[in-house]
Amino acid sequence: MKVDGKDIRPIWFDEDAKTVKIIDQRVLPHEFVITDLKTTDDAIMAIKEMYVRGAPLIGVTGAYGVYLAALHSETKEELIAECNRLKSARPTAVNLAWGADRVLSEILKSGASELSQKSIDTALKEAAEIAELEAENCRKIGEHGLSLVEEISSRKGGKTVNLLTHCNAGWLACIEYGTATAPMYAAYDNGIDIHVWVDETRPLNQGARLTAWELGKHGIKHTVITDNAGGHLMQHDMVDMVIVGTDRTTYTGDVANKIGTYLKALAAKDNGIPFYVALPSSTFDWTLRNGMKDIPIEERDPDEVRYVRGSDTTESLDAYGQSVGAEETRYIRGDERVMTHNVLIPPNDSPAANYAFDVTPARLVTGFITERGICEATEEDIKRLFPD
Ligand code: MRU
Repeated sequence: MKVDGKDIRPIWFDEDAKTVKIIDQRVLPHEFVITDLKTTDDAIMAIKEMYVRGAPLIGVTGAYGVYLAALHSETKEELIAECNRLKSARPTAVNLAWGADRVLSEILKSGASELSQKSIDTALKEAAEIAELEAENCRKIGEHGLSLVEEISSRKGGKTVNLLTHCNAGWLACIEYGTATAPMYAAYDNGIDIHVWVDETRPLNQGARLTAWELGKHGIKHTVITDNAGGHLMQHDMVDMVIVGTDRTTYTGDVANKIGTYLKALAAKDNGIPFYVALPSSTFDWTLRNGMKDIPIEERDPDEVRYVRGSDTTESLDAYGQSVGAEETRYIRGDERVMTHNVLIPPNDSPAANYAFDVTPARLVTGFITERGICEATEEDIKRLFPD
């Protein structure tokens, strides 16, 4: 997507530097930092510490991670062990294993037990193909989701369509377009008047920091709200449709997504507001039936709840504008934060808990927007779109 007129993705392979590069999403929107991934440990660290985040992006980072592992492994056994380490970096998003395993299985197709230059080339090519595939899938999600927004717009006689989203399921999470945001970009680009309510999404504020930044850069009207505001807005007819992304969706339609998604789905159901989940096929888990019981829910460091990270000066925005052009690069670890700071919120001795995801049962989901079209949140209808 374009940022200040410049094409940028959240991850790419720099042919000149022969390096995998990522945007460090921990410090957006106040700092714009590009970081190099050189080893499997770098990729694991970037996923765990959420330099990169969002299900499809974690999948693509996992894919490039296997390429990095192939660069530094002698044998296939070593590579498989590295791949397993990589896959356990974060537990909820199924895309991580999907992306890593796809690259690994391409390498394992060749008979020899030693890794060769050909294995490395294969890994890099496959990782790049996965990135393109996910970008294209998101483009198609936008095309299919557009019809839903168009329908509401014409029902309202062209008046503003109010959408609500949670967390960041935008291009930063997905290579291009995003999942939940793809229909928003498509609607805006097609001249439909939309406005987006952006849940701030505590504790790491992916909505307030990342979704608001993305939408603003694209010129889309949006308002950041507290995580608890959605129900009130829905009761007062201020939300026409909710669209969220997902980290893992069972083949029966249960949806794991950022903590708080379930409460939005409940409020939407109570108020008769359509609640759509946008996802590429890489986010379906074809092995799990019961999302509430079987999807692993990540628990993160309680300090992410206790502290809030932000900027204490608007100067950072100017610094951002300058550094985008300069493509400031830092190396993973040992980097210094410049503009953003952590601030402690509760009493220092109060314990905190940090459940990162929740599961919305299929019965609360109006439908899925996928690269193959729209379906209901039922096993039958999901399998109609994905018989394979
Ligand atoms: O913890 P995060 O930031 O990785 O969580 C991301 C989300 O919950 C997104 O909504 C989800 O990955 C969908 S991304 C298209």
